[in-house]
Amino acid sequence: MAIEETKTAVVAATKTDEDTSLDGTLRPQLLDDFIGQGALKKSLRVFLQATKDRGEALEHLLLAGPPGLGKTSLGQIVARELNTSIRITAGPALTKIADLAGVLTSLQPGDVLFIDEIHRLQRSVEEVLYPAMEDYALDLVVGQGPGAKTLRLDLPRFTLVGATTRIGMLGSPLRDRFGMTYRLSFYSEEEMKQIIHRSAGLLHVAIDDESVAEISRRCRRTPRIANRLLKRVRDYAQVEGYARINHQAVSEALDLLEVDQAGLDVADRRVLQAMIKHFDGGPVGLQTLASVTAEEERTIVEVIEPFLLQCGFIQRTPRGRSITDSGRVHIGEAADQGTLL
Ligand SMILES: Nc1ncnc2c1ncn2[C@@H]1O[C@H](COP(=O)(O)OP(=O)(O)OP(=O)(O)O)[C@@H](O)[C@H]1O
Ligand SMILES: [Mg+2]
Repeated sequence: MAIEETKTAVVAATKTDEDTSLDGTLRPQLLDDFIGQGALKKSLRVFLQATKDRGEALEHLLLAGPPGLGKTSLGQIVARELNTSIRITAGPALTKIADLAGVLTSLQPGDVLFIDEIHRLQRSVEEVLYPAMEDYALDLVVGQGPGAKTLRLDLPRFTLVGATTRIGMLGSPLRDRFGMTYRLSFYSEEEMKQIIHRSAGLLHVAIDDESVAEISRRCRRTPRIANRLLKRVRDYAQVEGYARINHQAVSEALDLLEVDQAGLDVADRRVLQAMIKHFDGGPVGLQTLASVTAEEERTIVEVIEPFLLQCGFIQRTPRGRSITDSGRVHIGEAADQGTLL
């Protein structure tokens, strides 16, 4: 892969083909394999156990958080822990009412229905979900005009697991129908170390603690990115003739990918830089920022901003986002080290 392509793949918000194959190998299978998110896991474990004891379907579950933190993994874990099947679909794939009706009528009792990017469901399709979630019923309109009738079909009891990177875009009729809402947060450095060790073991990559620590500092506290970086570092070490991955190989590989000391990538720095250069640090509105940086608004809101907020490099105000003092310091240091733009 060319280095430009590689850089894009590291920062990409969307999943690449490589991620899909990595996911197959690295996805935690059971709640015990899932590292971090302690409070969420504790609560989920109680609900799962209570549900299993009663022999019922689990209440509908909403998982919210930035990309790559483990929403799909958790959906699959829920199904596995309950010993049921999972059907996976996504908001943008359900374009017509018939698409959702088809999925709902194919469910078996107790199944998990996972809808990714649930905030992107069309309104008309979303409305079909309300009675399905609440009454396990599918209301179909048959015929047209004054002669139209509503036909109610019974559905098996199922568990809807919705995943979203934009919980704010979910209307309250949908949000209120979930029995539980969990927000996934960025992982701690310590948790990232455990995740990287686990992935390295599964991928048969020999790596020392110092190298793991370096990746854990520079992976945006995001398991998917850590897994990508681990693979990139392995490739780099191999091509550059390192007998094993050491701290120097990691530093060089991550520098080459232009991932800086705080884990910011080219796109993150471009946003900070634009705030300083064009808006005197802000506040600046989303649309303006998107047009100046040539990033999609969605990428800024769903991927770039959550991490910059987490780092304390930007803050949100009612009039837009602005850079903080530590954001300025970071950009200054990055410029000194020549890792800029
Ligand atoms: N807690 C965890 N422990 C170990 N590995 C994890 C954990 N969370 C995520 N991963 C790893 O990160 C990868 C990405 O996770 P996942 O696909 O579940 O994220 P996601 O939140 O669904 O992302 P998206 O919003 O892009 O769909 C998984 O394949 C898995 O290997
Ligand atoms: Mg996912």
